[in-house]
Amino acid sequence: MSQTIIVSNRLPTKVQRTDDSLTFQSSEGGLATGLGSIYQAEGNMWVGWPGLFVQDAAEEQYVTEQLRADSMRPVFLTETEIRDYYEGFSNSTLWPTFHYFSQLATYEQAHWDAYVAVNEKFCRAVLEQAGPDDTIWIHDYQLLLLPAMLREARPNCTIGFFLHIPFPSYELIRVLPWRAELLRGMLGADLIGFHTYGYMRHFLSAVSQLLGLPTQNGQIETPTRTLRVDAFPMGIDYERYARAAASPAAQEYEVTYRKALHDARVILSIDRLDYTKGIAQRLRAFALLLQRYPEWREKVCLIMLVVPSRDQVTEYAALKEEIDELVGRINAQYRTISWNPIHYFYRSLPLEELASLYRLAEVALVTPMRDGMNLVAKEFIACKADNGGVLILSERAGAARELADALIINPTDTSQLVEAMHDALMMPLEEQQQRMAAMQALVRRYNVFAWTRLFMNQLAYTKIKQHTLA
Ligand code: UDP
Ligand code: G6P
Repeated sequence: MSQTIIVSNRLPTKVQRTDDSLTFQSSEGGLATGLGSIYQAEGNMWVGWPGLFVQDAAEEQYVTEQLRADSMRPVFLTETEIRDYYEGFSNSTLWPTFHYFSQLATYEQAHWDAYVAVNEKFCRAVLEQAGPDDTIWIHDYQLLLLPAMLREARPNCTIGFFLHIPFPSYELIRVLPWRAELLRGMLGADLIGFHTYGYMRHFLSAVSQLLGLPTQNGQIETPTRTLRVDAFPMGIDYERYARAAASPAAQEYEVTYRKALHDARVILSIDRLDYTKGIAQRLRAFALLLQRYPEWREKVCLIMLVVPSRDQVTEYAALKEEIDELVGRINAQYRTISWNPIHYFYRSLPLEELASLYRLAEVALVTPMRDGMNLVAKEFIACKADNGGVLILSERAGAARELADALIINPTDTSQLVEAMHDALMMPLEEQQQRMAAMQALVRRYNVFAWTRLFMNQLAYTKIKQHTLA
């Protein structure tokens, strides 16, 4: 029987070392949470890194066996590979460049060499698992070279690729010394998917300008094959979040939190620690709200959950310090004995607690500078069973292309953000319900299962057409 092999840098389970034992937890980040719901349901397999540097062969075997039971095949990375491939090329070159933060990007030959070598390592791991009829679905910027490597080893196999982050304009891509190799790597796939048509157009333009290949109607003609490119906005497992929010556990948390907050109205933000998420800008906007509208003091608080991420990368460590400092300063300036303006958590939370925060919040602030999609925005919507609640959403998140009933803002316009928060807090319940119901219908319908079906059907169709043409 043929199966789908999902390949991504990070597995949906991450292994962590605590004192003398290993713990297995769910990974954070949109890729892992989104796809986590589909890969087991369909009897598929997932190949990826378990997020841990193993110390010896016994530990490696133990982790492998544990993950195998959940249909995962670990690819182990050495400390040097983690430094040069993961923290280096993936997160200090590609991530900033693709999110329009070119000024933060580094261009190190050693990082590139490690990126090539680790993509080859993933290629070997996939080839060990994949049968001739299997479909291979590769995810995200850490593995841009893998499609072409697999294509070379298995010329006829079915390969899909999905990019979870923005694909930037040609002007940013052309800065990368390895731009042609990266594009050629992606072209090994039969179908390449992006969250939005904008990203897809940028990709097609880069392919035609940098590789000189003809691109028409979402098709690219290489000398040997025709491949398709399309937009597939990723969804969430709607029912999972709706159920979690309706669970007795989430309701109990909500009651406890409300009491502790003395019924203050809640604005919520949830992100991984990342400079693309606009966390510091958002804090400044919240401080300005308290200054411009003193009537909100002691009435409103910001609950801000920041999930630790990539803390070995300099820019992330610096951002953590900036946030700590800003939160301290704003709280010190405005707090009273019975009210704290910002409740800041630097950790990750289990699903029910996360769902209770979504329930509790009247306003969700999703204000990234750039974001491929942003699933937090969709999760907030799925958790609002009573239809109330207002989403403030950055125009530069992929989700803004779909969620037109959010209050759409420019995240660098602090003043506009302040007014949006004020408007959200003042919005009549009826208007909130109308907007929320429209967004719920959309997010429920275009959920992660529909997304997968669409991508997989398109991939199968592309393959059939290739055969017919050959
Ligand atoms: N998330 C999580 N644990 C937490 C907080 C958040 O697993 O404590 C999840 C959140 O539910 C969402 C994902 O992390 O599914 C973040 O995805 P998003 O697309 O918003 O951004 P990304 O992190 O992929 O850039
Ligand atoms: C984003 C990326 C994913 C990544 C996730 C978490 O969602 O698109 O590929 O897995 O962030 O980042 P991390 O570096 O911890 O895997």
